[in-house]
Amino acid sequence: MITLDDVKNNEEVQALVQGAQKQLNELGYTEHSQRHVGIVSIRAGEILRELGYPEDRIMLAEIAGYLHDIGNCVNRKDHAHYGALLAYNILKDMGMDVTSRTEIMMAIGNHDEETGTAVSDISAALILADKSDVHRDRVTNKTMATFDKHDKVNYAVTDAKLVINKEERRITLDIQIDTELCPVIDYFEIFIDRTVMSKYAAKYLNVWFELVINGTKLL
Ligand SMILES: [Fe+2]
Ligand SMILES: [Fe+2]
Repeated sequence: MITLDDVKNNEEVQALVQGAQKQLNELGYTEHSQRHVGIVSIRAGEILRELGYPEDRIMLAEIAGYLHDIGNCVNRKDHAHYGALLAYNILKDMGMDVTSRTEIMMAIGNHDEETGTAVSDISAALILADKSDVHRDRVTNKTMATFDKHDKVNYAVTDAKLVINKEERRITLDIQIDTELCPVIDYFEIFIDRTVMSKYAAKYLNVWFELVINGTKLL
């Protein structure tokens, strides 16, 4: 069985994760490096673990989380689709069975809000984990005067926690925004599609999605 550690230690995976970040740096996007994919991997696994899914599904969600953004190495547009195909082939070369690598391909191929939606438990966990990683650490631009809207909103987020309540079947994204830097409405303007996608992903897992900003429940 291929483990998350096998994937992390794979040379090709390491080169693609680094390459994706390099390309996005050139384009001025927020951080998509080991930090982001590492967090998404852990969080996707945690979501399924907390909700009582079996260990093999958890491992696949963790692997999908780690590989989900490698398609940014090819092009930002359609990165979910390129990444899905890259991941499928790498996992095939590593000897992962066809059913498992197909599951991972499906999840990665559906993680972008422009073209995807939750199509499996793994895919739903990946979406929730990915869309909840909003934080000022992700802003790579160090010059505030040149911040674009995404930089501004991400920078204003001082804390973002994803809280899973198994008993109440509820997942809460609890965000703190510095409103001196950005009004709450700007968060919605940028992230409304991601929020709707997270809501559907939670529904797939049979849980309720809640968004709390600065202590106020907004969804
Ligand atoms: Fe992505
Ligand atoms: Fe991502």
